[in-house]
Amino acid sequence: MEKLSEKNQKKTKDKQAQIIESQLLSGILESSSSVSIISTDLDQNIIYWNKGAENIFGYKAEEIVGKRKITIIYNGVTSKKTALKAQKKIKTTKKGTECELQQITKSGEVLWSKMTLTPSLDEKGNVIGILGVGTDITKHKSTEAHLRKLMHQLKKTLTGIIYATELIIETRDPYTAGHQKRVALLAKAIAENMKLSDHQIEGIFMIGMIHDLGKISIPAEILSIPRRLTEAEFNLIKNHPEAGYDILKTIDFPWPIAEIILQHHERLDGTGYPNRLVDKEIMLEAKVIMVADVVEAMASHRPYRAAFGIQRALGEIKQNSGILYDSTVVNACVDVFEKEKFKFENNESVSPLLTSTNELSKM
Ligand SMILES: [Fe+2]
Repeated sequence: MEKLSEKNQKKTKDKQAQIIESQLLSGILESSSSVSIISTDLDQNIIYWNKGAENIFGYKAEEIVGKRKITIIYNGVTSKKTALKAQKKIKTTKKGTECELQQITKSGEVLWSKMTLTPSLDEKGNVIGILGVGTDITKHKSTEAHLRKLMHQLKKTLTGIIYATELIIETRDPYTAGHQKRVALLAKAIAENMKLSDHQIEGIFMIGMIHDLGKISIPAEILSIPRRLTEAEFNLIKNHPEAGYDILKTIDFPWPIAEIILQHHERLDGTGYPNRLVDKEIMLEAKVIMVADVVEAMASHRPYRAAFGIQRALGEIKQNSGILYDSTVVNACVDVFEKEKFKFENNESVSPLLTSTNELSKM
């Protein structure tokens, strides 16, 4: 007896909960003024059209219920196909979906809605229609497009500044003419081979273009000495990563350009400069630039020696793979030359920064 009464009490509670739920739902359906709630049958005939839909699309419920949704709010807009596809998917999977759709109002205005579409089921679980709940995201979409345009302009400006900076450096220092550009191209090819993100690849190219920026702080006479450098001269040259860092450190680039420039002469075993960083302390982008820098410098001609050539340059990085240079970067660089047949555009770079294979391992 007691159990039966408990069962009855539970039934009454469930019924009350259902009533409250349905009252709440119909209240939301009716009063929601900024959310469109549209119910259709499988032929797209509109069965229910709430106040929000009236506000957003400009049609009163009485003038639109019974008409085909697809021919009205998707008339002539690009999302018509997407809307039909979504309906087909719901019909076959019996699962809801979310999509951003272009729709058209009574006055012909095109808007964007974020729609949550769910199947309406009969008692046997068959899909008999679709319930769509949508919010107007037109403003959000146009802000997004505006931001994309701004980002594009900003990137164009940034690229212009990087190219101008590269030109200034090389005008002052003809011995490295083309060096930075070739390092940038090789570093980019290595980064692509490593399947880094587009953002990282773009950053690595930009950094390659100006990685020796700090050389503008070195007296021009030292940069143009057509012989091997003395230790004192070489010590002056070794200031260039810090000088480059100091010039760029306050600029908020989309990549940590200043830090990577500071690290481009570090080596995994801590024998690099200026901070004698070790493997884990060196950023991946700097590891890519350092390998491209070494290979380009060795492959290039010097006033006091002929170019060592690519094979010897690759030999140097292979020999020191995992010791001075990151082995993943070395493997990618070897791949770039041996499998992808990468070639430097010309071979006239003359950099006094890397003067012999012995000095290469010291730097
Ligand atoms: Fe450098």
